[in-house]
Amino acid sequence: MTMTHKMQRIVTQPRVIVALDFSNETALWSLVEKLNPADCRLKIGKELFTSQGPDLVRRLTQRGFDVFLDLKFHDIPNTVAKAVSAAADLGVWMVNVHASGGAKMLDAARAALSAADGPLLIAVTVLTSLQQSDLTTVGVNDSVEQQVQRLTRLAANAGFDGVVCSAHEAASVKQLTNTDFLTITPGVRPQGAAVQDQQRIMTPREALRNQADYLVIGRPITQADNPVSELLTINSDINEYLAQR
Ligand code: C5P
Repeated sequence: MTMTHKMQRIVTQPRVIVALDFSNETALWSLVEKLNPADCRLKIGKELFTSQGPDLVRRLTQRGFDVFLDLKFHDIPNTVAKAVSAAADLGVWMVNVHASGGAKMLDAARAALSAADGPLLIAVTVLTSLQQSDLTTVGVNDSVEQQVQRLTRLAANAGFDGVVCSAHEAASVKQLTNTDFLTITPGVRPQGAAVQDQQRIMTPREALRNQADYLVIGRPITQADNPVSELLTINSDINEYLAQR
């Protein structure tokens, strides 16, 4: 059955998206070969895509993985439209662009993927690395929170499927939009895991309770002694929480 765009917005298992932040192909494949597409989805970012190219995406999708192509496109509308179409041709499950590219750019991206079976189209609002003072230097005088809300509305109005946001913001994103507007949340750490450079973390359960739909988790899985067992532990915690909800 062809999955329609609308149907894709229904949140399905697996909820974990493993961030494949590897610089080295051997390490990447040694992990991927152990993973089962039924247990996780995979995120490919700029580093890996720049070094390995579309062929990596094809190889992962051929293995049955849903791929989130996290390239955060931001350019003139025509170029972004072409870029998201190219991502769709690669068979990715989810692709993203910067909401700050403006309404015309968002509309062009949406129109390029309006076919019923396109990838989920997600917006990045304000990068978590940016603080108030950084916004001021680029001429944005509103608070980070106001800017996140403005860009969330812009993306929702353009018919986007969701946003990348902190799990702390997920509930307010749902309130501003619709419950089927997806929240994709990084900064998730299983109980007791190393925080690394993340600032305001939540456990998988806390994130789900706060209305996160998909959890982007990198190093707690990729750097674990036994990544598969770490992933399965997270999944059983998620399943236990969802079953009792
Ligand atoms: O290893 P870790 O779980 O911190 O990886 C999180 C992933 O989510 C990384 O790929 C990171 O670039 C991404 N990300 C993030 N915070 C954001 C947006 C994306 O950590 N605000």
